[in-house]
Amino acid sequence: MDLQLNNKVALVLAASKGLGKAIATTLAAEGATVIIASRNAEELNRTAAIIEQQTGRKVTAIPTDVSKAEDITHLIETTGQQFGQIDILINNAGGPPFGKFEDFGDLQWQQAFELNLLSFARTSRQVVPYMKKAGSGRIINVISGSVKSIFPNSVLSTSVRLGVVGMAKLLSEELGIYNITVNNVGAGLILTDRVKETLSPDRDADEQIKEKVKAIPLGRIGKPEEFAAVVAFLASAQASYVTGTTLQIDGGAGRNII
Ligand SMILES: NC(=O)c1ccc[n+]([C@@H]2O[C@H](COP(=O)([O-])OP(=O)(O)OC[C@H]3O[C@@H](n4cnc5c(N)ncnc54)[C@H](OP(=O)(O)O)[C@@H]3O)[C@@H](O)[C@H]2O)c1
Repeated sequence: MDLQLNNKVALVLAASKGLGKAIATTLAAEGATVIIASRNAEELNRTAAIIEQQTGRKVTAIPTDVSKAEDITHLIETTGQQFGQIDILINNAGGPPFGKFEDFGDLQWQQAFELNLLSFARTSRQVVPYMKKAGSGRIINVISGSVKSIFPNSVLSTSVRLGVVGMAKLLSEELGIYNITVNNVGAGLILTDRVKETLSPDRDADEQIKEKVKAIPLGRIGKPEEFAAVVAFLASAQASYVTGTTLQIDGGAGRNII
């Protein structure tokens, strides 16, 4: 299937590694012009070079901290000036810390809000004018399967990301008339550094992953490229009638029915 991304400009946040990198790679491989953004400039530039080598497409790296308003404005203005259009916005960020409710004070709540909800609102607000002008657009928010089926120790993530779900639903209603779709993708257990960091250094990593996947119907951890393939479909011309949804990409791990 040709996803018809050849003339599209895609902005992928938090993309130096993990899910963001996999999404940027897949969109570039499908022909999109890709701009990637995250904090560590060296790592970001390295990732851009790797994606260019793998896909043969030019990738632009713009160092950005998505929790800073001025960085987001700079990113979107620079992209707009350089490319004149922004057709696909992949909202993504690092995850908030894991822990129980009583572990967190106001500071951690505030940081999670700024990193995982306010950043998505800021980028969406600034990108929508480009999409309206083009007469179409795709906003895809990378969140967590925990918005449908709870994971232990993820109170910050679950709470703040449910705000993203609410915002996306309202946005999908307000922007539908402009042919702009807004959807969320909820990651289950996908093998990235964020997951590796949760493993104990004192025990064999493969053994710990084996324990984690016992409750997953597909019996294994997900690969970033499997996640990215679904995102690329949602970004495609063919997904034109899908909006306001939250799709779990979790190997069936979610215990919810709908
Ligand atoms: N992997 C999973 O199984 C899973 C499951 C549920 C939810 N998620 C969520 O999916 C998102 C992506 O996770 P991942 O697994 O891909 O994580 P990852 O492998 O740790 O990658 C995180 C990426 O985010 C960037 N980043 C972190 N803070 C940032 C900031 N303030 N501004 C800009 N970029 C920032 C990092 O680069 P810099 O550090 O250089 O900025 C890096 O590129 C997270 O919100 C995570 O909680 C993942």
